[in-house]
Amino acid sequence: MTISVDTTTRHSAVLGLGLYRASRVVPNSEVIEGIDSSDEWIQQRSGIIERRFALPEETVVVMSVGAAREALADAGIEAGQVDCVIVATVSHMLQTPSAATAIAHELGSTAAAFDISAACAGFCHGMALASDMVRAGTAKYVLVIGVERLSDITSASDRGTAFIFSDGAGAAIVGESDEQGIGPVVWGSDGEQYDAIRQTEDWRDVVAAGSTEMPHLVMKGAEVFRWAAFAMAKVAMETLDRSGITVDDLDVFVPHQANMRITDAMARSMKLPEHVTIARDIAHQGNSSAASVPLALRQLVLDGEAKSGDIALLIAFGAGLTYAAQVIRVP
Ligand code: UT7
Repeated sequence: MTISVDTTTRHSAVLGLGLYRASRVVPNSEVIEGIDSSDEWIQQRSGIIERRFALPEETVVVMSVGAAREALADAGIEAGQVDCVIVATVSHMLQTPSAATAIAHELGSTAAAFDISAACAGFCHGMALASDMVRAGTAKYVLVIGVERLSDITSASDRGTAFIFSDGAGAAIVGESDEQGIGPVVWGSDGEQYDAIRQTEDWRDVVAAGSTEMPHLVMKGAEVFRWAAFAMAKVAMETLDRSGITVDDLDVFVPHQANMRITDAMARSMKLPEHVTIARDIAHQGNSSAASVPLALRQLVLDGEAKSGDIALLIAFGAGLTYAAQVIRVP
């Protein structure tokens, strides 16, 4: 007895993009109130001038639906055509059910829907899954969302994170195409650095201690910085290699918007030519974790800095530690 399966392989590509920026613009002058810092230090050490925080009504679901509607319109498809919704997030505050089913429902879809937890690298993990699903024929269209409301899990008095994290959502439609538009993923994890970025306490310990305070994110910033700036440049080069291209073929570089100095260090280490457009969305958005890559990519398209057909390298890294990267053709 054999199990019947369609063994045809298809081409996958990004067909549309969308974004939702949280509404509240928060300048450095506001975040330094809770920490001993300055506008000058934050700009110099991270490149952040201001960031976006969500209003109470801008939930993970609301922001995701906003980004998804834009991506659906950009791809020219209806929500009913989507076969799977993948949501990358660490700040949907219910352990279960997932944010994805609520988002699908809000969009009017009954597609398969689930969340993934790979922190700041989550969106690129989702893109890899979506691409393989389309190539295998498991899904014709996949909606991939990276979304965070990190302001809910960031302590305003934590000096190492209060000025970095932010809120927003980015979305992509991955679907069938005449030619391949998404390269092989290069991904992995380094659990030896499990504690480098993490929630302060297990929820059970919070309750056992009778605390009324939410746990929040903490980060060994300098260690993560060193890892990201050096190890991730190697991953970026391997990703180009796996797609059969070099830095000279690249039009756009969209790294996770973690720190402007990490972006610069990676670009230097990769010897990116002058013609490559580098995403610098962090300056006015802050670090929005899983949302940062799709937000930055969509903004480059809206600003005319990335054009349809351009070759872009996406790379993201974060808590776990986790990383994932792929080359895509801009829709
Ligand atoms: O999204 C997930 C991945 N995340 C990342 O990739 C983030 C990676 N890390 C970073 O972006 C950086 O490590 C930070 C921006 C978080 C911090 O910058 P840094 O240059 O690594 O700072 P540091 O922790 O090494 O501290 C340097 C100095 C210290 O002072 P001394 O000892 O040199 O006198 C700190 O006390 O800066 C001081 N400092 C601050 N000063 C003003 C640390 N935090 C602050 C602050 N404001 N908020």
